[in-house]
Amino acid sequence: MKIMVVGGGGREHAIIKKIKLNKNVSEIFALPGNGGMAQDATCVNIGAKDIPAIVDFAVEKGIDYAIVAPDDPLVLGAVDALEEKGIPCFGPRANAAIIEGSKVFSKNLMKKYNIPTAQYEVFDNMDAALKYLETAPIPTVVKADGLALGKGVIIAETREMAMDAVKSMMQDKAFGKSGETIVIEEFLTGPEVSVLAFTDGETVVPMISSMDHKRIGDNDTGLNTGGMGTVAPNPYYTDDIAAECMKTIFIPTMKAMNEEGRTFKGCLYFGLMLTPNGPKVIEYNCRFGDPETQVVLPLLESDLLTVMQAVTNGKLRDINVRFSDKNACCVIMASKGYPTDYEKGFEMTIPDEISDNVYVAGAKLEGDKLLTNGGRVLGATAVASSLKSAIDGAYKLVSQIHFNNAYYRSDIGAKALRARED
Ligand code: AMP
Ligand code: GLY
Repeated sequence: MKIMVVGGGGREHAIIKKIKLNKNVSEIFALPGNGGMAQDATCVNIGAKDIPAIVDFAVEKGIDYAIVAPDDPLVLGAVDALEEKGIPCFGPRANAAIIEGSKVFSKNLMKKYNIPTAQYEVFDNMDAALKYLETAPIPTVVKADGLALGKGVIIAETREMAMDAVKSMMQDKAFGKSGETIVIEEFLTGPEVSVLAFTDGETVVPMISSMDHKRIGDNDTGLNTGGMGTVAPNPYYTDDIAAECMKTIFIPTMKAMNEEGRTFKGCLYFGLMLTPNGPKVIEYNCRFGDPETQVVLPLLESDLLTVMQAVTNGKLRDINVRFSDKNACCVIMASKGYPTDYEKGFEMTIPDEISDNVYVAGAKLEGDKLLTNGGRVLGATAVASSLKSAIDGAYKLVSQIHFNNAYYRSDIGAKALRARED
């Protein structure tokens, strides 16, 4: 089988490494991929948002199965366009990807179907939003409606910050069209949990839970990033909480999407907060998380391609999706200065013996040299029987990888370890 994976980061590298294990797979193409995955896939210089070129490539190459990993192409209808040409895909169609593409859509969906989430108001008029903020409870959270590279959420500690956030989105158009409509919502507290789930619209199979580390600095300080590291499972996510989430959040969401005529097939990502009043949805994503995938898939014991095809064919209920009971930790190595300004083009060395555990996100090949080419450069994942040894293992991998100006957090997993000890 010829497989095409749309996307080019660490998440896609983790998907590719897992797909490669299936004996029926003869070739994997990554569009665009990156130089660091050249050993695992053929990288093709087509951007993940260039849907006509993606479709032409798939038809020309006779692709048997396509996996669309990032949010943009999903929201833009890559799956719809590929399916029109008869190419089976993993990922939701555009009418279901809107669950991530529009926060107003997802908030209204949760309200309509009684799925627990933060209280909120929607505004498409700046003056009305500013007036509301004069008396709104503080802290509050201001969110751009559309996709904003993970930066469209501002936690405002003061009324002034909240008003500035509204002005930057609605007046200065900091996120372009994505910020023309905004959501202002209640500030929630509690541990955060990421749960990725396979669903074919009839069955939901949650994967092992995980914990992201979004801030750039140790002890969750500094700017928000795309994610600086992850551990799985998440110790806060007990069996009781998992059962509650299945009943109050996962199944109701799947059914709500069916009810709306927007059946979701693919990986549905639940960003949850375990509040004193029970688990609530902070956000939905229409795809695998990054870097959650880099800890969740290494713990998957079942064959990933078989599971994905079952999702596509509406046969998820017929298969058994098994996870190991081990722990995984992924530490992201970034370029110093990320998430703002950073230099790239530094030579990287990754010893061959550990390359199976390294998921490259931002690199390019120049001759036989691998050079850094992005903010987040790679993730190193270790799997072990205890969380502590998984964390130690991931940092040991990191110590063997070298490039100039490398930066990584030194406390990935520390909070999870403390939670275990409580
Ligand atoms: P999102 O892009 O929606 O995942 O939001 C980014 C981060 O902002 C989340 O991971 C939370 O840490 C935080 N956040 C979002 N919404 C809320 C909320 N209502 N209350 C508290 N924190 C929030
Ligand atoms: N790690 C968060 C995300 O993928 O959106």
